Amino acid sequence: MTVKNKEKKKLYINGEWVEAKEYRSLFSPYSRELIAEIPQATVEEVDLAIEAAYQARSKMAEMPSYQRAGILEKLAGLLEQRSDEAAGIIAMEAAKPITTAKGEVARTVQTFKFAAEEAKRINGETIPMDAAPGGEGRVAYTVREPLGVIGAITPFNFPMNLVAHKVGPAIAAGNTVVLKPAGQTPLSAYFLAELLEEAGLQAGAFNVVTGSGSVVGEKLVKDGRVKKISFTGSPEVGIGIRNKAGLKHVTLELGSNAALIVDKDVDVEKIIPRCVTGAFAFQGQVCISLQRVYVHKDSYDSFVEKFVEAAAKLKVGDPLDPETDVSALIAPKEVERTLGWIEEAKQNGAKVVLGGVSEGNVLKPTVLLDVEPSAKVSCQEVFAPIVLINKVESVGEAIEMVNDSRYGLQAGIFTENIRTAMDATKNLHVGGVLVNDIPTFRVDHMPYGGVKESGVGREGIKYAIDEMTEMKLVIINNN
Ligand code: SIN
Repeated sequence: MTVKNKEKKKLYINGEWVEAKEYRSLFSPYSRELIAEIPQATVEEVDLAIEAAYQARSKMAEMPSYQRAGILEKLAGLLEQRSDEAAGIIAMEAAKPITTAKGEVARTVQTFKFAAEEAKRINGETIPMDAAPGGEGRVAYTVREPLGVIGAITPFNFPMNLVAHKVGPAIAAGNTVVLKPAGQTPLSAYFLAELLEEAGLQAGAFNVVTGSGSVVGEKLVKDGRVKKISFTGSPEVGIGIRNKAGLKHVTLELGSNAALIVDKDVDVEKIIPRCVTGAFAFQGQVCISLQRVYVHKDSYDSFVEKFVEAAAKLKVGDPLDPETDVSALIAPKEVERTLGWIEEAKQNGAKVVLGGVSEGNVLKPTVLLDVEPSAKVSCQEVFAPIVLINKVESVGEAIEMVNDSRYGLQAGIFTENIRTAMDATKNLHVGGVLVNDIPTFRVDHMPYGGVKESGVGREGIKYAIDEMTEMKLVIINNN
């Protein structure tokens, strides 16, 4: 797909590109120019997509794993060939700075490659049945079978790679998919649909239906033919899905207010570039974006000075300019929201030492000090280029502050002391602890997911495949 302005997109159902009954205009978050007209699927159109996926499921389940792997390998190759075009789509629809968008495309290629590899090693285990009286003479083993139709609901912040994190393992395991991409970033998903078609995936195995959560999302969550919902997005929506999904399998990757602890004796100069990237990459619109930093009192002044100095150098502007570090938030209402949250923190004693203002739809990189834990910028997921730095007396106090959160996705600690590090790995209540790194770290095969309101289940191809398959036990009585 080349990015043609004002292009009228079509739904992708059962291997066909289908004109929809209703459309909505899609605008650039940065320039507010019209980008495309996006189909808004009706319940009947979603029903057709689910039925297509339902009819395709047996053929996909029976397809040998080397063939499923072959399709995913081919897809990865096609995406690699068209990576500049893919990055341009992400940059345009999400306002993701083009250099970061290129990084996302490279990761997406790798995610599909991991999925191709994992397709070939979905295995079970043998069970020693004679461990229990009465089990003698029996041979037992488990196999993993695909669930069938997977409903995938993806967010705007990684419009290609987070689609890959659902579609890759689903296909690797022999499932079929109905995808509802984020309303703000549907073009990346349609682009992947074109490539999957070219890679030879059978009709019906992958369907894309854009539209509202209350129509498309609701239908996917409630329809009995859909066996699993894999969702990445806000806790509010995730909890709603969980409450409506009944006995469906559900994986939820939700938000966080990710935190970092900086101990005394740390080489502050060395860690600053990573901390700045963790806080401001893609305008902080990443679930593991560095939002809260707790710095030991001995390192605090130097950390604040160097962090602010580095953050002030970030270049703000057009996402298509390779020099840009920070661009627009996904929607103007997010600029309003975050300015309101900054104001609330200020009213409660916080100091703004950088930014705190907007320019068009861009919120300038913002650094706050002395923020009360109850301020929204601290206790909610800020999803914007805002970071707060607070002074602590000890790492123990910092751990308490990190854990004082409704979220628990990933946390980081920089320390030279192995005992302090071990203490942190034990006591931080999160899905992943990063020692001597920021929480904003992910490679695509690692288990990724959170505790508390950060979600349930894990992604990372192998772990997602576990959650997209069901164990079957076979017992052979040889008596
Ligand atoms: C997320 O925002 O949850 C995804 C982060 C990533 O894949 O780097």
